[in-house]
Amino acid sequence: MSKKDDEPIPPSKKDLLDIASLSVEEIEYLLKSAGPFKELFKRSIKKVPALRGKSVLNLFYEPSTRTSSSFEVAAKRMSADVTNLSVSQSSVVKGESVLDTVDTLQAMKTDYIVIRHKAAGIPNLLANHTRASILNAGDGFHAHPTQALLDAFTFREVIPESRGKRIVIVGDILHSRVARSTSTIFNKLGVEVAVLGPGPLIPPGRNDFIKRLSSWEDVFDWKPDAVYLLRVQMERQDEQFFPSLTEYHKVYGLTSERFKTLASEGTYLMHPGPVNRGVEIVDEAMLYEKSLINQQVENGIAVRMAALYWLKPGTEEK
Ligand code: CP
Repeated sequence: MSKKDDEPIPPSKKDLLDIASLSVEEIEYLLKSAGPFKELFKRSIKKVPALRGKSVLNLFYEPSTRTSSSFEVAAKRMSADVTNLSVSQSSVVKGESVLDTVDTLQAMKTDYIVIRHKAAGIPNLLANHTRASILNAGDGFHAHPTQALLDAFTFREVIPESRGKRIVIVGDILHSRVARSTSTIFNKLGVEVAVLGPGPLIPPGRNDFIKRLSSWEDVFDWKPDAVYLLRVQMERQDEQFFPSLTEYHKVYGLTSERFKTLASEGTYLMHPGPVNRGVEIVDEAMLYEKSLINQQVENGIAVRMAALYWLKPGTEEK
């Protein structure tokens, strides 16, 4: 870490909505404070009392395995009271709006609301509407800030001097909030970001990708320190961007042959999950010794603890 221990803590924010609105100092602080939280995981008692008496509500309008469970574990390890609202079993199915749902939860004095929604911008809307801290757990194509924080934390764990290092993101960049937030954080931290994917799935006019690669040969020539694979987000595509998933695997997937080259170069492998084996990644790559995929999941808890610890809800104000 480039930060010294005696550097001041950046003033708390109420909400964590995206990476773009965080300063480098704030990102560095969150990454730095996630370290001691991760150390806790080695202890037999993995809990701290930091959020005792506070309440955290998980509100997921889209499916999630990693993010929802990770936020739940993180909040419980901070001793917060956690409620997971099952949207499919809630009054949402009776037509209740997101704002009315949040008003109801606010009436229960919820301090932190973790929200995932298919519509980009919903967390920003809620942040202006409620005194609870809003933590964006993924909104449409827009942002997934805690994923980006855990990605940067993981990259730095294996490459502590990361400035000037290289990462290439491969896949459906256009529909990926992960690509948007993760490329932004790496850009802010001085890590060079390149992308590879089907032309129509690479958004134009983004200056956080320093390079647009055309093939896996280009990827290997560029000599990245890590390759970050993305799932093809079929659920967000209303038109066909490539002929078939088999075709996608042949042209853009990490095939057996490409995996052999990647392993021979000692390149790290990252993926936010969930993984579609046989599409963006071949089975054997899941067992690769330099795969950081499980480490990313573990680190998700630590960075979410750091985020919960840093944010300051407005629920105590008059
Ligand atoms: N990486 C990620 O957001 O995974 P989930 O959809 O399982 O939360």
